[in-house]
Amino acid sequence: MAIRARHPNVLSLVLISFLSIASAKVFFEERFEDGWESRWVKSEWKKDENLAGEWNYTSGQWNGDANDKGIQTSEDYRFYAISAEFPEFTNKDNTLVFQFSVKHEQKLDCGGGYLKLLSGDVDQKKFGGDTPYSIMFGPDICGYSTKKVHAILTYNDTNQLIKKDVPCETDQLTHVYTFIIRPDATYSILIDNVEKQTGSLYTDWNLLPAKKIKDPEAKKPEDWDDKEFIPDPEDKKPEGYDDIPKEIPDSDAKKPEDWDDEEDGEWTAPTIANPEYKGPWKPKKIKNPNYSGKWKAPLIDNPDFKDDPDLYVFKLKYVGIELWQVKSGTLFDNVVITDDPEYAKQLAEETWGKQKDAEKAAFDEAEKKKEEEESKDDPVDSDAEEDDEDTDDADDAESKTEAAEDSDESSKEEVHDEL
Ligand SMILES: *[C@@H]1O[C@H](CO)[C@@H](O)[C@H](O)[C@H]1NC(C)=O
Ligand SMILES: *[C@@H]1O[C@H](CO)[C@@H](O)[C@H](O)[C@H]1NC(C)=O
Ligand SMILES: *[C@@H]1O[C@H](CO)[C@@H](O)[C@H](O)[C@H]1NC(C)=O
Repeated sequence: MAIRARHPNVLSLVLISFLSIASAKVFFEERFEDGWESRWVKSEWKKDENLAGEWNYTSGQWNGDANDKGIQTSEDYRFYAISAEFPEFTNKDNTLVFQFSVKHEQKLDCGGGYLKLLSGDVDQKKFGGDTPYSIMFGPDICGYSTKKVHAILTYNDTNQLIKKDVPCETDQLTHVYTFIIRPDATYSILIDNVEKQTGSLYTDWNLLPAKKIKDPEAKKPEDWDDKEFIPDPEDKKPEGYDDIPKEIPDSDAKKPEDWDDEEDGEWTAPTIANPEYKGPWKPKKIKNPNYSGKWKAPLIDNPDFKDDPDLYVFKLKYVGIELWQVKSGTLFDNVVITDDPEYAKQLAEETWGKQKDAEKAAFDEAEKKKEEEESKDDPVDSDAEEDDEDTDDADDAESKTEAAEDSDESSKEEVHDEL
């Protein structure tokens, strides 16, 4: 009975996913297999300053499948810019799904792991930090304060950051980031196929003025009682309360042996705080039976709000990676742009999902090896190493500032500064 009942479910599940995959529109998919270099254009941006970083085509130091390669930043203190073109499309009336995987093998301390979707015509050889984009999405880490998923939407030529906080993964393993935008202007952000944030483009970005505002004309009614607690009218000051002195003579004090009344005057005991004294009398507070709650102005339609039913619509033509990295080692893979969340989910399952356990085991193994090697060093050496590391960190911070100053590229600074 149970088996029979279960059977149709399994069947329909398979059927549904098959159908949805069959109908999925895939605008771009890059698994970084052979030939990827013909699809991606490396930008010349920052080359003349010798600050353009090289990509390493690799599966990384630890992975779940050595044959499954991606592209990894391979030089420290470098800018990275690379992009791929696809046939232009708009997501009007359709869901937009943007997904990729990223692994920070370097224990990222400051750097981005995000991708951009761009519109219009882009000179890919010149693609860089100043190139306008439509959507920027993915993790960003800098110091202790910035560990977040960026979801920036460009509307009316302005880059708008998501107002909600979406923490990103901070370990050294592969994670899949998914951004879904739906025609009803709702969105979801997923990490490893788990929804981390969801809401509306209307409320979670400042794309349009608010739909509703507090009525500026509204006034608190005269008889509105917003005092939650009032003095208890029943409470009476106890008889003799005001007669209790603040200080009393110290009964433990003794007149000193050598006290001379004639020379020193009459001895009086020093005073101490009276434990009976409770300060000026105040009636106790009770809940106000007439309390009407906090007054709030009623909301009215905002006269400045003009709806844009195409708020969620983007015309897209390129996907790009444009990053500054202090420490390199970020590996991107499995970029997909589709209209079908189920397709993206299955792609993630087939890649990251199948490899993650083996990758974790390989990582643990690498860590163990590293620890063993470190413990072989004698204590003097390992102290020296730590000192070296401190110096490196200081260098990192300095170089970052320098490079940021060198860079006339404001969007990146904006991104880190607002945090
Ligand atoms: C590329 O990555 C592999 C695996 O981590 C590493 O062995 C190799 O040295 C890297 N090459 C460069 C040029 O960074
Ligand atoms: C677009 O931006 C301009 C300049 O900031 C502003 O004046 C205009 O009101 C904006 N339009 C919309 C629809 O937000
Ligand atoms: C509550 O409101 C009533 C009617 O206005 C008034 O008579 C009464 O004194 C109020 N009670 C308190 C504790 O303010």
